[in-house]
Formats: sequence, structure tokens, C-alpha cells
Amino acid sequence: MAQLWGGRFTKQTDELVYAFNQSLKFDRRLFNQDIRGSKAHAEMLAKQGILTAEEKDLIVGGLDALKAKVDSGELKIEGEYEDIHSFIEANLTDMIGDAGKEVHTGRSRNDQVALDMRLYIRDEIDAIAEELHDLLSVILSIMDRNRETFMPGFTHMQKAQPVTLAHHFGAYFEMFRRDRERLLSIRERNNVCPLGSGALAGTTYPLDRDMTAELLGFDGSCENSMDGVSDRDYVIEFLDSLAITMMHLSRLSEEIITWNSNEYQFIDLDDTYATGSSIMPQKKNPDIAELIRGKTGRVYGALLSMLTTMKGLPLAYDKDMQEDKELTFDAIDTTKGCIRLMAGMLETSKFNADRMARSCQGGFANATDAADYLVRKGMPFRDAHGVIGRLVLTCIRKNCRMDDLPLEDYRKESPLFDSDIYEAIALKTCVDRRTTKGAPGAIDEEIRNAKAYLDNTEA
Ligand code: ARG
Repeated sequence: MAQLWGGRFTKQTDELVYAFNQSLKFDRRLFNQDIRGSKAHAEMLAKQGILTAEEKDLIVGGLDALKAKVDSGELKIEGEYEDIHSFIEANLTDMIGDAGKEVHTGRSRNDQVALDMRLYIRDEIDAIAEELHDLLSVILSIMDRNRETFMPGFTHMQKAQPVTLAHHFGAYFEMFRRDRERLLSIRERNNVCPLGSGALAGTTYPLDRDMTAELLGFDGSCENSMDGVSDRDYVIEFLDSLAITMMHLSRLSEEIITWNSNEYQFIDLDDTYATGSSIMPQKKNPDIAELIRGKTGRVYGALLSMLTTMKGLPLAYDKDMQEDKELTFDAIDTTKGCIRLMAGMLETSKFNADRMARSCQGGFANATDAADYLVRKGMPFRDAHGVIGRLVLTCIRKNCRMDDLPLEDYRKESPLFDSDIYEAIALKTCVDRRTTKGAPGAIDEEIRNAKAYLDNTEA
């Protein structure tokens, strides 16, 4: 058991306790961040005269060599080490001798792990923002190709008013755009370096905290050392952001599942993104969308776990915080994977434009437009609403659409109706007339803005 402590102990740690406490099997993912942090710390110690230039060169060279060994697979991150920090210090000391024991001067694992997690999450924010950018590009191209693909818009899962596929996907574009912006704002708000906080009360060495912060790409160092080692708000904000992204992915999945049903048939999933049944040969199931919907619960779980873990912790560091890692890593893998799969599934899917247009024509999705027609002819909207309501009833009795109802039936309800009513309630008219900002008739502007957003934020 390679541990960084033991001087005051007279007995070996119990095996079960050792296994329970050991975090190497999961915090090994912080290897690169730990190396980066240790190099910056050593540079700063040398500049402050706490390490000699030779010691610093040995340490920095040793850390680079250790990383090369791990990257090449020559050295595996495993074995009897308590955590990734012990693994690195022990292997560094094996490689460069006593200088390796100097790297921890003026540092505690408490500020070290806080730094590693911040760096890790910052890296992942950048990676996930890029994944979201890719997903947004796929959505934008669907919007671009489907400005005239009519479909019913729903409220309460009832046909409400006609929209277009471009407009429907425009709503998801906004959701994922906000997700991306939310992540970036979390990055900005939390970009301060905890290194130098020590165990909780700083150190007696003359550290230059601003220098380490700058070397590691932070905007500054944290103001309070006790907060520095015990703050996990950035983990919680990050998980919250992933949970919201998963909620959006899950809503879209739910729509895809509905659209893929035998009743709707709005979408045809590509064979590469669907699965079959072991017993029913006819099946083509939307398992990927269902799994994305299902995995949303896991990410919510991570957020709730972390909130619960933190809620009773007195200042400053407590080992409970080690629990942040596995659930954060799992939430990252899950969300990243789901974003990528959603992009692939959408990119390969075909939308059934005829089926969607036909669905628009049933269900009286143009009833509001018929009422608006009467308003244009001078009738107050509330009266027009009543007239059209009665006409809908007539259609239901006659089993026909408003588009096919004879003019004399219209005229029985109001003399304001003329033969131009049919043009006024045609699908294309219903969409084209809705030109308020953000409406389906103003989709060109919406698409222009979406495109400008993606162009200006190219990764
Ligand atoms: N593995 C710990 C964590 O993830 C970091 C080590 C700090 N441990 C300690 N006993 N002070 O939070």
C-alpha cells in the first residue's frame, strides 16, 4: 500500500478500509489534470525560490516523462495507490529520486483535488460545447431543408395550428443553444484557481497564487482558502447544466418515438440507428431514442446525489466530497454520448413530408385561420370563434375537412364568407401569414440568426 502518510500510525490499514477509501480506480481519469497542476505548481515554487531551478527541471521533466509512459501504455494507472495523487508522486519519486518528494511543498491533496476537478470540468465543458455545436449544425440543416415541410403543431397532444418541420426544429435549436451558452457561463463564473488554499488555511510558504492561476489558464485565484477546498458549486452547476441538456434530449426523443410510431409515421429512422425484435420480425424499434430518454434519469440522479452529498458538510474539506467523481464522470459520458447519438440519429433520419402534410389537413388545424378570415372581414374575434366552432361541428357531422365544406354551409353561419375562404385556410397560407418574429412564416430570419450564431461560435 503506497500512501502519502503513515508516520503517526502504528498499524497497517485494514484491508476493507483500504479498499473502501481507495479512489484510484476512478480518479485515474484526473491523471492529465494532476500532471498539469503539478507542473505549474513546481514552476511557481521555483520562481519563488522555494525549489531550486535544478529541482524544478527534474520535477517538470519527470512529470512529462511519466505522462509519456502512461500515454504509451508502458505504465498502467493501477496498483496499490490510494489515489491518483499518490500514484503520480510515488512514480515520480521512483523516476527522479528525492526531488519527487518536493513537489507537494506548499500543497495539500485538498487543494490539489479541487484544482484537478476544476480543470477536468473545464476541459469537458469545452468538449461538450463542441458536441452541442455539432448537434446544432445538424438541426440547422434540417431546418434549412424543411422550410416548406408542413406539419401540425400540437398543444395538449391535440392538433392546434399548422407549423413547419423547420419551425418545430427551431425550438430545439434554441434549447441546445441555451445549453451551450449555459455551459460556457458556468466555465466563466468558476474559472478561479484553488491551488494555494492548502489543506484549508493556505500555507506558510510565499506562494505566488496568481502565477499558478495564470499558468493554468484561470482568470484568477479563489479569494478564500476554506472556500477553495470545499467549494463544489462548479460540479453542481455543471451537473445541473447536463441534466437540463438531457431533459431537452429526452423531450426530442419522446417526439421521435411518437413520430416513429405506426400511427404517426412522420419519421423513418435509418436502419443504422434502429433495432429489431427477437420475436416479431416486422419490428423496427426506436431503442436509441428510448435509451436517451431513459438515461436522463441517471444524470438527474447525479445532480441530486451531489446536492445531497454537499448539504450537510461543515467547512472545510470532508472526504464525502470524493463522491463527486464517479457520478460526474458517468454524467459526462452519458450526456456526451447521448448528444452525439442524437446528432447521428437526426442526420440519418428521413421525414415523411406527405404524411405530415396530410395530418395537418385533418383535425381542424386551420380553424384559427378561418376565424381570422372573419375578423379581417369585420367580425369581432370572439364572435368569429363561435361561428367557426359551429362550422367545425358541421364538418364533424358531415365527416369532412374545413377545406372541403361547401360554401353554402359556410354562408349559413355568416354571409361574410366568400369563395376566397378556401385560399385563406390553405395550409401554405396558414403558415405564410404567421410572420410575427419567431413564427413559422418568419422562418427565414430565424434560420439566418441560427446560422450566424453557429458561424460566430465555430469551435
Ligand atoms: N481523493 C480525495 C478526493 O477525491 C482527495 C484526497 C484528499 N484526501 C484527504 N484525505 N485529505 O476528494
